Amino acid sequence: MQTFIENMPKAELHVHLEGTLEPELSFALARKNNVELGYATPEELVAAYDFYDLPSFLTIYYGAMKVLQDEADFYQLTWNYLSKAYSQNTVYAELFFDPQAHTSRGVDFGVVIRGIRAAQEDAESKLGVKSQLIMCFLRDMSAESAMEHLLMAEPYRAWLVGVGLDSDEKNNPPVKFAAVFKKAREMGLKLTMHCDVNQQNTLLHIGQCLDDIEVDRIDHGVNSLESDALCDAIKARGLGLTVCPVSNRFVVQSLTSAEIRRMLDKGMLATINSDDPAYFRAYLNENLVELQREGNFSNEEIATLVGNAFRVAWLPAQEKNTYL
Ligand code: HPA
Ligand code: ZN
Repeated sequence: MQTFIENMPKAELHVHLEGTLEPELSFALARKNNVELGYATPEELVAAYDFYDLPSFLTIYYGAMKVLQDEADFYQLTWNYLSKAYSQNTVYAELFFDPQAHTSRGVDFGVVIRGIRAAQEDAESKLGVKSQLIMCFLRDMSAESAMEHLLMAEPYRAWLVGVGLDSDEKNNPPVKFAAVFKKAREMGLKLTMHCDVNQQNTLLHIGQCLDDIEVDRIDHGVNSLESDALCDAIKARGLGLTVCPVSNRFVVQSLTSAEIRRMLDKGMLATINSDDPAYFRAYLNENLVELQREGNFSNEEIATLVGNAFRVAWLPAQEKNTYL
């Protein structure tokens, strides 16, 4: 089964580029940029990873970003992820990035996106790994800041496929960003939002994603299973759910294999993703292998989950069909 998973051409739709920052690259960039990390070795840094919910993860995730300073750093981060994807037969990826986590440290928006874009182009031409970029807004920052960043992105519109919403969900509902997402849609961008596992008001937030924002996809969305009406709406609209098993384990102590099987049984378009693989120590293959073991999924079920990622990818139908 492991070989079956490793050999399949795969797509990943929920991976935060900043969440692919491996400890070794952190150390190399810290040395280059004269940044104090506070740990003696990459192993010591990993040993300090202590997450048990979304806020405890986010503190470590944002803190580590201080090593990312110039265009070459964003290039290296992106190139390393796409090379890893290549080594795992992940042939297509939609990549999240968090510009506000960089501009708030004084790093120019253009530096971030140009570094990422150059690596995407090189990965496509040299490795054959295609990728598209999704700009996320930090939901614990203001709607005004999100709108400012959407305007900053306008000159780079052609480099983006969509926008997303991430960071701390508590007291930051989808409707806080209704105007920003409306403008993004007018710009021709696809829309997605995180509805992380077991958050306060999660069913309300999923409902807002569907009815107020009219998203094209939902990131995580596992709690939709608690409402038949939400499941029916998600199914009727053909919306993909980007589920992240190993990421979920830090919050709910399971890979949510039972929930993923229920989604499959209901005909919902669940996909499997790594979220923040450098932190959760699992890329796409490891997520699939561990999920299969916990849920005893058949080859056919794994193939459905992998196929779903191509089905709901933001690619032209003709291009998707070459992978299916
Ligand atoms: N949820 C919310 N925000 C995030 C995540 C996540 O899983 N990863 C990086 N930012
Ligand atoms: Zn995420």
